[in-house]
Amino acid sequence: MIRKIVEGVYNVGAIDWERTLFDEIVPLPQGTSYNAYLIIGKEKTALIDTVEPEKYEQLERNLEEMKVDKIDYIISNHAEQDHSGSIPMVLGKYPEAKVVTNAKCKEFEKDLLHLKDEDFIIIKEGDTIDLGGKTLEFIMTPWVHWPETMTTFLVEDKIAFTCDFFGSHAATTHTFAEQYDRIYHEAKRYYAEIMMPFRQIIGRNIEKIEKLNPEIIAPSHGPAYREPGFIINAYRDWISEKTKNEALILYVSMHGSTKKMVDALVDYLGKYRVEMKVRDLITADLGEIAIDMVDVTTIIIATPTILAGPHPNAVYAAYLANALKPKAKVIGIMGSYGWGGRTVDILKANLGALKGEILEPLLIKGLPKEEDYAKIEDFAKKIAEKHRELGVMK
Ligand code: FEO
Repeated sequence: MIRKIVEGVYNVGAIDWERTLFDEIVPLPQGTSYNAYLIIGKEKTALIDTVEPEKYEQLERNLEEMKVDKIDYIISNHAEQDHSGSIPMVLGKYPEAKVVTNAKCKEFEKDLLHLKDEDFIIIKEGDTIDLGGKTLEFIMTPWVHWPETMTTFLVEDKIAFTCDFFGSHAATTHTFAEQYDRIYHEAKRYYAEIMMPFRQIIGRNIEKIEKLNPEIIAPSHGPAYREPGFIINAYRDWISEKTKNEALILYVSMHGSTKKMVDALVDYLGKYRVEMKVRDLITADLGEIAIDMVDVTTIIIATPTILAGPHPNAVYAAYLANALKPKAKVIGIMGSYGWGGRTVDILKANLGALKGEILEPLLIKGLPKEEDYAKIEDFAKKIAEKHRELGVMK
């Protein structure tokens, strides 16, 4: 399906309705798309990014429908294979085409795709290519989310092609974002899973994009934005230090003791006016957990003791939080045990990259007793105090 962005600019990429998992880890409840943009100038034609190799047929069909008999430049904004993977096929079909990218991206693509030196034209920050009335300018936007990522700006039409940056995993036939609630959620999911670890650097890249004053932002996943402020402001909010008066409770329970602790904690946090999100680590969608992590003040991991340590799903949650580096300011560890174990040590070892303060852990032997509920209430009170001190609770 071909989708016109403006005169001479078309999304000829692929829609992937069936894909349910990305990178074999990220759930895709709404599928995804791999947008490739065809830019037709008076003299030259460029293709910005390609598609996941298994969807190449869609790209080829679209190019044939557009009667494209020559591509001069394949602009590669990012070496990850969902955008670069079909470059060898496009080069096979259009052998005169050159791959235009930065030096770092070239090295990745030589490794990942076995492209050769002679396949490339290397550009750097601020370089331009004139297609004849359509000028492409290259802006380096590293770490969104690999070191080589860049943005291509179409000067005359003021369109920023940002690749993964500002993208959303959403299979849709809409050319532009229309269902804003849906796209906000999917873009936040995308940010949480892919971009959040690079929060500090993203701020500089947002400024670079804003300086271009784009009228359209066209990422390589999900719909394009005719109102760039929508997605730029959302990103600004997500990367800011601001957190909400919310605690995210990630728990797993084997025989109900940890669940009873969690239920009590929920009641007490409610009593002390802390809002919550509660996820059972056995059934929860990892993407939803990542979204929750974007702006909560507190993350609590609650686990039973199994084989002398935390439940493996609790370790996984800790590892995930550690890798995504959310801006949470307070971290809690709680759970139950039968006869000891290294639950706290193992979880702490997996939380070392987080900046948040780790509270004194709360471990209870067996099913919580009357006196244990007082400890759980103290734990909740401590979290509420932290939220007050941090100014997130009014
Ligand atoms: Fe959409 Fe980093 O690939």
